[in-house]
Amino acid sequence: MNLIIADNADALAAQAADFIADAARTAVQERGRFSLCMTGGATPEQTYEQLAGRDLPWDVMDFFWGDERFVPFDDPRSNFGMAQRSLLSRAPVPAGNLFPMPTDAASAAEGARLYAQTLGGSFGIDPPMPPAPPPVFDLLLLGLGDDGHCASLFPGHPTLHVTDAWAISSPPGTLPPPVERITLTFPVLNASRQVLFLVAGAKKAEAVADILEGGAQVDKRPAAGVKPESGTLTWLIDEAAASRLEKRA
Ligand code: 6PG
Repeated sequence: MNLIIADNADALAAQAADFIADAARTAVQERGRFSLCMTGGATPEQTYEQLAGRDLPWDVMDFFWGDERFVPFDDPRSNFGMAQRSLLSRAPVPAGNLFPMPTDAASAAEGARLYAQTLGGSFGIDPPMPPAPPPVFDLLLLGLGDDGHCASLFPGHPTLHVTDAWAISSPPGTLPPPVERITLTFPVLNASRQVLFLVAGAKKAEAVADILEGGAQVDKRPAAGVKPESGTLTWLIDEAAASRLEKRA
């Protein structure tokens, strides 16, 4: 696990954009395409804005989502809507490269089922479910809730232990917004080639310390369950989020 501590949220956004840009260039050089699984929430917005200004191989970059609030894309709570405003409307990404979670499905559960099919189609896996191996993103972005959740995998929920599906519906966690979600499950998160956590702010410090130094259990701090099978794990956090850590990198 790599730990990078940025001075503040602005520096974190710049360093995160550099990290993502490097991963994109490397993946395209090695495999001809780059699959990026986006995170939602507020923290990544500044990173996405910075990324929009980079000279990247946008035409061979595919965008997926690790979780989504079950609301229309034009709802201010939509993770896809946030990515559209901060990045996708500012960079020449072909519409065919965007794979948002279908929040217009009949239900979040149906949306999760459809998204697994989308992943199967994009990664050539049929049927799109275990025991078939999960899709492998080149880079998975994750945020961290104050309660230690990641994606929409919330403390104490059965969703933390699902291994027979790639995507599932998730009831609201204790943190806002209190809406149903669609989320990828740990088998998919942990299949990624690279995982990058983006965490800023003092409110995250206790959860960061519990996870990085306190041996937190997944049921209490779900992000503790992010242990890539063979990929790399990097925590990019700012000084405020690092303030409860004993060891510094
Ligand atoms: C979501 C996110 C979620 C987020 C954390 C942190 O849909 O809410 O994907 O997992 O990363 O809640 O959110 P902030 O960056 O807003 O603190």
